[in-house]
Amino acid sequence: MTDGLDALNAATKRILSYQPRPQKRKALTAPSAVCKPRLLDLFCCAGGAGIGYSQAGFEVVGVDIKPQPNYPLPFIQADALTLDPKFIALFDVVHASPPCQAYSDLAKRNGNAEEWPRLIEPVRDMLIRSSLPYVIENVDGAPLLNAVVLCGTMFPELRVLRHRLFEANFEIVPPPHKKHPKVHTFDRRKSHFGKTDEWKDFVQVTGGGNCTIAAAREAMGIDWMTKNEINESIPPAYTRFIGRELLRQLSFSEQESAKSYRNA
Ligand SMILES: C[S@@+](CC[C@H](N)C(=O)[O-])C[C@H]1O[C@@H](n2cnc3c(N)ncnc32)[C@H](O)[C@@H]1O
Repeated sequence: MTDGLDALNAATKRILSYQPRPQKRKALTAPSAVCKPRLLDLFCCAGGAGIGYSQAGFEVVGVDIKPQPNYPLPFIQADALTLDPKFIALFDVVHASPPCQAYSDLAKRNGNAEEWPRLIEPVRDMLIRSSLPYVIENVDGAPLLNAVVLCGTMFPELRVLRHRLFEANFEIVPPPHKKHPKVHTFDRRKSHFGKTDEWKDFVQVTGGGNCTIAAAREAMGIDWMTKNEINESIPPAYTRFIGRELLRQLSFSEQESAKSYRNA
């Protein structure tokens, strides 16, 4: 018990001593080597979402309740739902990927969805209270509002069928959704068994496994994760796309307000 309290106190101390940069709001106009906009990556796991935003030009800090030794960016271990609002206010944007088990088809089929926490609503409340631009990501069937779907078929660099929903308080226009190709399979009962190549054709990355971990990494654009981590992850291409779109919109709205200020 004391160990748990000590760990919590240490995490809180680390969070509250995290130093804001004085010029952070100006950074929203453009990502640059000197001063990038800051993004808080909640429920970060090993960083599929976080790396995409980093590639788009954000300075990313991840938060997860469990240690994440493979998270490739600055990381804080903490409960995302109990973060101090003053800490959240140090950032320009928040992304959240709360656990999806309660909303997944598997849990619905097994009838045990109620055993998992439903975190989307409290996370949304917290993000709305922050008044920051936010993104919440989850699986098909999750109760996200006005969500757009991203799929591996929308990104030429990907070979993975992986639908994910994204709710945001800014506009995201997804690329066209192409017809799903047959995915590589280890299942001899499937009619196309033996006719696909896991290094050329589409794969699905699931707990059961329809391809090797090496092929899954290549298909998702992720080379640093274990099998369990990649099963939880989204391809960085998804958040690279959203991050670039957000930067474009933020830069446009800053230019517009500068124009109306000059014309006033
Ligand atoms: C679906 S994974 C996130 C995947 C990640 N976005 C990616 O693309 O690699 C969900 C993560 O939420 C974490 N988690 C669960 N409850 C949490 C909480 N209350 N606070 C912070 N993290 C939590 C889990 O440990 C898990 O790593």
